Amino acid sequence: MTATGTVTRTAPGSGPPAIVTRGLEKVFRGAWGRPPVHALKPLELEVVPGEIFGLLGPNGSGKSTTIKLLLGLLHPTRGHALVLGRPPRDVAVKARLGYVPEESYLHAHLTASETLAFHGRLFGLPRRELRERVPRLLELAGLAGARDRPVGELSKGMLRRITLAQALVNDPDLLILDEPTAGMDPIGTREVKDLLRGLKGRGKTVLLSSHLLADVEDVCDRVAILHEGELRALGSVESLLADDRRTQVVTGRLSPATVEALTALLREREGPGLEVRVGPPSTRLEELFLRVVSQGGAGKAAGEAP
Ligand SMILES: Nc1ncnc2c1ncn2[C@@H]1O[C@H](COP(=O)(O)OP(=O)(O)OP(=O)(O)O)[C@@H](O)[C@H]1O
Ligand SMILES: [Mg+2]
Repeated sequence: MTATGTVTRTAPGSGPPAIVTRGLEKVFRGAWGRPPVHALKPLELEVVPGEIFGLLGPNGSGKSTTIKLLLGLLHPTRGHALVLGRPPRDVAVKARLGYVPEESYLHAHLTASETLAFHGRLFGLPRRELRERVPRLLELAGLAGARDRPVGELSKGMLRRITLAQALVNDPDLLILDEPTAGMDPIGTREVKDLLRGLKGRGKTVLLSSHLLADVEDVCDRVAILHEGELRALGSVESLLADDRRTQVVTGRLSPATVEALTALLREREGPGLEVRVGPPSTRLEELFLRVVSQGGAGKAAGEAP
């Protein structure tokens, strides 16, 4: 903060947190005698300006509840959150925020470009500016070819793309996405990740939720893992995936005799109890899919040796 109270943002990590939660908690009261659901247990979290932060967790772990609390769509049972330094319901926050909800809510009869223009006008953007911004956002979301199609006709993945473009219409400083890649093919998923990296490059802050580790592992600076409403892990992806109890050695294809000799050597040097596992390196499914698709068709069955 400067003396005048304006936030200066230079590099990731500078300035006050983009999101802070203190003891943020949500209990849904059980209706008709059903027991209450403790959807979010007291959560302490800080999202740094300029970072891409992943909220991970299985179904029902409290990701959407957390996001709705941050957006002021739900009232906390206890605790509080600050978003861009203000309470979530503050209107000044809404102007600087973009939100991609879990489900896309769109007017089926509006075309893709009308949808974005309509949303832009809700933010008070002048028509002149929207004439330039809407085609750029459609291009960015890979929807330039669908600009005049009613959104009611678009596929599930295309609806996610338009919802994402819609969330960017006000050029937000903070983008909150709830399962942004749900229903998207791996190419779309990759494009969303590239887009998020681009936003980060422009100093924006991103919070996204997912239950797919592959969705977040190569795009998020830090992740929080929720389980049953409780924060179970928090840190950089590398630190969370780091396993200092193992060493991985990757080589070209080895003959069985070499594998046997190598295993004997390793056990001789490190002790007879050393765990040695030998097999083909595992490939992330997304990489494999992209490789097969970019090769222009299935010449070889996936996983077949070259
Ligand atoms: N409006 C509600 N009323 C009652 N219970 C709710 C409500 N919304 C969410 N819950 C409950 O809170 C818990 C957390 O739900 P939440 O939607 O936050 O999970 P999630 O992590 O987003 O899951 P998913 O990956 O399936 O989207 C679940 O047990 C859910 O049933
Ligand atoms: Mg959810």
